[in-house]
Amino acid sequence: MSGEISLEVLVTPADRRAALERDVRVGLGAGDKVLPPVWFYDETGSRLFDEITRLPEYYPTRTEAGILRAHAADMVAASGADVLVELGSGTSEKTRLLLDAMTAAGSLRQVVLLDISEEVLVEGAAALRERYGVDVHAVVGDFRLHLEALAKGERRLWAFLGSTIGNFRPDERRRLLGELAGAMADDDHLLLGTDLVKEPERLVAAYDDERGVTAAFNRNVLAVLNRELGGDLVPERFVHRAVWDPVAEWIEMRLRSTACQVARLDRLGLEVAFEEGEEILTETSAKFRPAGVVAELATAGLREEVAWSDPDGDFRLGLSRRGSHAA
Ligand code: SAH
Ligand code: AVI
Repeated sequence: MSGEISLEVLVTPADRRAALERDVRVGLGAGDKVLPPVWFYDETGSRLFDEITRLPEYYPTRTEAGILRAHAADMVAASGADVLVELGSGTSEKTRLLLDAMTAAGSLRQVVLLDISEEVLVEGAAALRERYGVDVHAVVGDFRLHLEALAKGERRLWAFLGSTIGNFRPDERRRLLGELAGAMADDDHLLLGTDLVKEPERLVAAYDDERGVTAAFNRNVLAVLNRELGGDLVPERFVHRAVWDPVAEWIEMRLRSTACQVARLDRLGLEVAFEEGEEILTETSAKFRPAGVVAELATAGLREEVAWSDPDGDFRLGLSRRGSHAA
């Protein structure tokens, strides 16, 4: 079979550890407690996320897949791309819909996958190489730091799916989209998936499912801290919460301490005290309005050329390229 996998590691285990230590010192050291969501995704967290994508309450994945199924051929034709670059690729399951369309168009030359979670990245890369017989370059990296390191070359379609962009605050999104625009060539396109604002009940259910998979995903970050930082946090002493903020228009995932307790993180020489009811903010998941997405892209120097949505208007995929809007 043709096609090879090349693995490039831009985040070593030592880099990871140093970044986690910094985030924990800043986020749990004083004041309101907060952890960036990137720490969810060790091997267990990535598996739990994959389980979340199949839950009845978690509509984003299947809705985005439906849009891709209906329109991937148009997306690929409009992009004219022969290289697909996927950011935060995870299992790359939905990506197959784009790769099927590129294969049908006879244009698929290479796939580049970037993810922080090595195990899921390598598995995803192997599955794509086997299915498409294409070269897959798998990069263990952080899309906040390593976009420029992705090799330039053919016409690229950059896929940033799943509304992962929503896990960043507006200022972080501005920076990330700006860096993305800077890393793109003039002929490249960005396919950006965004989850749209909808009834709070559906949103909260999507982040607080009946089977408790999202709760396990949320609590898994405590297991990551215990393992990596010699911690003694007791996950059972924290309850999962999902709260809709109607002003910011994002879901907040929180872990609420059920007791007054002190946890040690030996490797940091840090003691973290929790009041009963005190919470750690572990993720924000912004929900978007179409005009807001277009405006954020424009601020970053990207012009949205076309967008697709599902019939219920739950999710949106937009295709953009560098440039400003015509006056
Ligand atoms: N794109 C897939 C997976 C989304 S889950 C989908 O649409 O279903 C978010 C993915 O982004 C995970 O695979 C996680 O490991 C990765 N990720 C999260 N933060 C990251 C970061 N800062 N840099 C690179 N990858 C990141
Ligand atoms: C990856 N990201 C877009 C997911 C989301 O919906 O914000 C992560 C997630 N958190 C809880 N469930 C899913």
